[in-house]
Amino acid sequence: MAEIKEYKNLINGEWKESKEQITIYSPIDNKEIGKVQAMTHKEIDDAMAAAKAAMKAWREVPIVERAKVLYKAAELLEKRKDEIGEILAEEVAKNLKSAVSEVVRTADLIRYTAEEGIRVHGEVMKGDTFEAASKNKLAIIRREPMGVVLAIAPFNYPINLSASKIAPALIGGNVVIFKPPTQGAISGLLLTQVFEEAGLPKGVLNSVTGKGSVIGDYLIAHPDVNFINFTGSTEVGEKIGEVSGMKPILLELGGKDAAIVLEDADLEKAASEIVAGAFSYSGQRCTAIKRVLVEEKVADKLAEILEKKVNSLSVGDPFDNAEITPLISNKAADFVEELIDDAVNKGAKVINHPKREGNLIWPGVFDNVTLDMRIAWEEPFGPVLPIIRVKDENEAIEINNKSEYGLQAAIFTKDTTRALEIADKLEVGTVHMNNKTQRGPDNFPFLGIKKSGVGVQGIRYSIESMTKLKSVVINI
Ligand code: G3H
Repeated sequence: MAEIKEYKNLINGEWKESKEQITIYSPIDNKEIGKVQAMTHKEIDDAMAAAKAAMKAWREVPIVERAKVLYKAAELLEKRKDEIGEILAEEVAKNLKSAVSEVVRTADLIRYTAEEGIRVHGEVMKGDTFEAASKNKLAIIRREPMGVVLAIAPFNYPINLSASKIAPALIGGNVVIFKPPTQGAISGLLLTQVFEEAGLPKGVLNSVTGKGSVIGDYLIAHPDVNFINFTGSTEVGEKIGEVSGMKPILLELGGKDAAIVLEDADLEKAASEIVAGAFSYSGQRCTAIKRVLVEEKVADKLAEILEKKVNSLSVGDPFDNAEITPLISNKAADFVEELIDDAVNKGAKVINHPKREGNLIWPGVFDNVTLDMRIAWEEPFGPVLPIIRVKDENEAIEINNKSEYGLQAAIFTKDTTRALEIADKLEVGTVHMNNKTQRGPDNFPFLGIKKSGVGVQGIRYSIESMTKLKSVVINI
């Protein structure tokens, strides 16, 4: 039997072991794939102290030098794309092709962050638009680091959604305490290793792993943390909001993204986008399309095309590059099943029958979903798609806006003017036209409103979020 590898935490430039470990099993076959450390509060304090101690020197490193470390990290990461991609695929049951492309996407993101960071300049402002006394005032406005950034990443993108926090924080002159998801921790620690090898000084990036119940609240309430950047569930995001007090936060949370299909839409194209949007990584994406709002006149036709496309999705092993792979846990699959049962019991028409084996759920489409069904409102984070038939665009807008979430929406129509008018009325962070909902390209702003998030991400926006303005006023 191959030796089970133990992964340590990078604290103050050294790889440290804790007294206890957590075993990581693959969601594919429950095989043990490695162990990570279960840190204590005292060890968390040590990591915080190391970060604080490194802060002064790191913020004084010229930005071009900080950028060089990021370029190096991108290069090292790309070189290890197959090795890290394989571990990622095994750890979170993402198909191998997508896992490798997540690593490559991340290398690109880190490079772009280095380039963008160099160009985040301050500005100079004159006070002469106000009263005469302001005439001689000149403000020099610069960006300064926040300090210690706590970066907490989710299981579904353990490399990309970790680096999209770490890299902008570092280029902005911050030091980082990085908490990878427990399921995904090995991938996160490999990323940490890449940053270390790229030449980060000790203490600038420190990883922390452990049981959420032991270290979760302790981390977010820690007095040494100056900024929290979190991606994950709305439930945890709300908790962070409560516990963190007045600390600034950047949260990317849940969604219930709708695909609004109008009667003049190219239905083939809409169905392809909807299937890709709803079912990639088995629907375990905050930006997945989680409901279709279709005008009655074209609903039968759209349902027919969706059925065909969904039936042709491959299901099975991530290492065979199946499109639908096991969900992250049995608990996650139980929740999806609960939503399916509720919809079926209340009369939804089952188009594709979603059978289940353990945590593997076949893709399912449900038609005639009504607003009393949980699946119309709740986020399954699994391979199921409800179709809600609407009489017109106003009803679609109304249902979209009734959601507690406000991440993204997609509109399918050939009428751009109509699409723009609808986009104006949708209560979401981003509207895509004739395209699936998605976070990228990674330089675009990415934000959610209502229970979908706080603050704005996207490379430049993340750098700006994790730096603060400092204004020096000169009286000339
Ligand atoms: O799960 C949340 C991610 O930010 C979604 O990113 O749209 O690139 O899959 P994605």
